[in-house]
This record gives sequence, structure tokens and C-alpha cells, in this order.
Amino acid sequence: MAGKVVLVVGGGGREHALCMELKHSPHVSELHCSPGNAGTSRLATNHSISATDIEGLLSLAQRIDADLVVAGPEAPLCASLADRLSTIGIPCFGPVAELANLEGSKLHAKQVMRAANVPTAAFHVLSSTSDVNAALDDFSGNPWVVKRDVLAGGKGVVVTENREEALAFIQSSIESDGQVLLEDFLPGEEASMLVIMDGSGYVCLPASQDHKRAYDGDEGPNTGGMGAYCPAPVVTEAIRQTTIQTIIEPMHRYLLSGETPYRGVLYVGLMIPESGEPNVVEFNVRFGDPECQITLPLVKTDIFEVLEAAASDRLAELDVEFHDLFATTVVLAAEGYPQSPIKGRLIHGVKDTPLQSGEATAWVSHAGTGFDDQGRLVSTGGRVLSCSALAPTLEASVKLAYELIETVQLEGSHYRNDIAYRAL
Ligand code: AMP
Ligand code: GLY
Repeated sequence: MAGKVVLVVGGGGREHALCMELKHSPHVSELHCSPGNAGTSRLATNHSISATDIEGLLSLAQRIDADLVVAGPEAPLCASLADRLSTIGIPCFGPVAELANLEGSKLHAKQVMRAANVPTAAFHVLSSTSDVNAALDDFSGNPWVVKRDVLAGGKGVVVTENREEALAFIQSSIESDGQVLLEDFLPGEEASMLVIMDGSGYVCLPASQDHKRAYDGDEGPNTGGMGAYCPAPVVTEAIRQTTIQTIIEPMHRYLLSGETPYRGVLYVGLMIPESGEPNVVEFNVRFGDPECQITLPLVKTDIFEVLEAAASDRLAELDVEFHDLFATTVVLAAEGYPQSPIKGRLIHGVKDTPLQSGEATAWVSHAGTGFDDQGRLVSTGGRVLSCSALAPTLEASVKLAYELIETVQLEGSHYRNDIAYRAL
């Protein structure tokens, strides 16, 4: 199996991580990324087609004669990228639109979980005819959890003890979307499990923990994720087994029941209470970002083989192996992130090659980066890059990731100082 052409769709840290792993594969002879970033440009041919331009991506995949398309973000999947690729005979890592709706609609995800008997918070659907005040009274006594039923790029959920704020978010969501979900607050610790699946089987990757708030101590506004580590010790072997039995198995059965099986990765966002019986907080139909950056390097098996097998229902033929190591990544965010990130500033100190020392490695994962007209590295997004490290202990990987981030300079940037603090 030589000489495969692979197209990675997307342009963030997750896609840089995918390109890094695919670049290592002896099976991959040509790597393309669209739109990519400065990091992917060193590994792949970047193209300027956006991740939501389905027609553009289809003609690109045909033009380069792609053997595999790997979808990074959810938007192209919800817009039928996988469906359309299958009509022209190109395998896609990422589910068809009907199944991607698990992320596209929170209500749909809730209905699926209810039907499959998967544990999740109880919920109400509110619309313009609902008595919103009575519903808020029903759910009082803990923070209110309000969720929009649309793809909202991480801005669709409000968790608040402030009744006015809950009410305002409910009303504006009903106005824009027609309905909104109000759900029970779940106490516990969050973790996520990435499960690669297809019609033949599934593989659970080691569980990770993300840090969604902007500032230390889980303070400040919600973000796409400020750092993550893997494996997360909160997911003990017993909790992992319970998760598989009560969540992964029934979801896999459900996702095989339609015309086309789920071919891709299911991101299972878990809330783990003291009882150790996890509930599902959310499903995503893609790798997490930044979870991808620290989970993929723990996969020992060639990642092209894994992704290609999953895109063609041959996953069960593989024996996927993992490294017995820990990985941590710390996100460097632009000044003003997440509210209004300042872009276009010069970035200094970024090394292109990983730093190796014994079993430990540290590297920069690019996210919102590009080049200015003089070819200098500049910031182009809110999450600019992340510094990642792989080491035999969690402590060592955290230390190395922080040592690396201290060598990067970007005016006004910020990062959290407490990534992995819950586990240390
Ligand atoms: P989501 O977009 O569904 O992942 O929600 C964003 C964040 O809101 C999650 O990562 C949780 O921290 C929080 N959240 C969502 N649903 C609940 C819930 N039912 N109980 C407690 N926290 C929640
Ligand atoms: N880091 C959370 C996500 O990718 O949804």
C-alpha cells in the first residue's frame, strides 16, 4: 500500500496535528490541507478553499485524485461533505450529514440518547408558547443549563445561577432558532473520550481532559479549549468500562442502524459524578481541539491505517496500539480572546522541528497562524498555537509543554498556568 493521496479539511490546531501524524505514515505520498495554516504548510500543500465550501472541496479532492479525505471540523460534515464524496467514490473519515446531526442538533442528540437509553441530563424543550418562568421554577435549586439547538461554534450553551441571564438567553434563542433546551445541571468532573468507529467496530482512544474556561482556576469566559492532557486519570479503568457499556456500545449500535454506518470519530463529552456513573454532556462528530493534539500522538499504530480503515469499514481488522506515555498541550491565545482576539501580530520563537530528549518530545501545534507578505509568521486567529509535549509521566509532559510555551513571543498573548492541575 504505497503512494496514497490524503486531503485534510480544516485549518486549526486539530488539522495541524492530523497532518503531523499523517506525514509520518509511509503510506502517504502526498498530503494536502485546505485551508490549513502556517504549520500545515510545512507538511502539506495548503489550498485556499474554505472548510465550508463543499463544491470547492469536492473539485479539489477530484483534482488531486484523493484516496482519503479527513474532515477536521463538523461544519462540512453537517453540510454533507461525506455524502457527496461517497457519490464520487472517495472515502471520507467523518460521518454522513444525517449522523453528523448528532452535533448539529442538541435536541436530536438528546432524542437519540433517550431512544438508546444512554445516560444524560433530563431536559425540556421551550418554544414561544412555553411558560418559561414555570420551566425555570421547575429547574431551580442549581445553575440553569440552557442550550441552543444549532451549531453555535461553542457559544450555544449558558450555565448560570442568574435567572435574568437564563431568561434573556432563552428568549433570544427562541427568537433566533424557534426553540431552546433547558436541562438539568449535572455535577461532577468533565472528561472526554474519542471513539473511532465504523460499520465493523470501534476503538476507544485514551480519555482526555480539556480546560474550557479562559483563565486559571476555571475562571472567565468559555473558550474552544485552553489546554488538555491525556490520559486523564479521572477516567479510571472502572469508569472507562462503565462508559463503554452504558454509552459507547448503545451509541455504536444506534450509529450502525441506518443506511450508512458512522465512519469517523465520535467525541463523547462526559460528566463524571462521585458515583462514577458517567452522563453524556455532548457529542461531537469530530476530534476535539485541542484534545486531538494530545490524543493522536499516543496512538502507536500508523494513523493513516486507522483513519483509512474507519473510512471503509475495516477497523475491526486492525489491532490499534497505544504508547504508554502522557501528553499535555497548552494553548497560546491572542490578546482579547475569546471576546475579540487581535490578529495580525508577529510571532517569534517558534521552532519548526520537535525537540527530542529520550522518550520525551515537545512541539508546537499551529492553529491561528499564517504568513504576512514578507513571509513572517503572524497570528490569524484567537487560539494561535499550542505547545505540546509527550513524556513518560504527566508531570514531565506538563513541565515540558510549559518550558516550550515560554520560548514563544506574541504581544498581548495569554495562556493558562494550571493545565492538568486537577490530576497533579
Ligand atoms: P456543550 O457545548 O454541550 O459541551 O456545553 C458546554 C459546557 O457547558 C460543557 O463543557 C459543560 O461544562 C457545561 N454543561 C453543558 N451541559 C451541562 C449540564 N447538563 N450540566 C452541567 N454542565 C453542563
Ligand atoms: N475542546 C472541545 C471541543 O473540541 O469541542
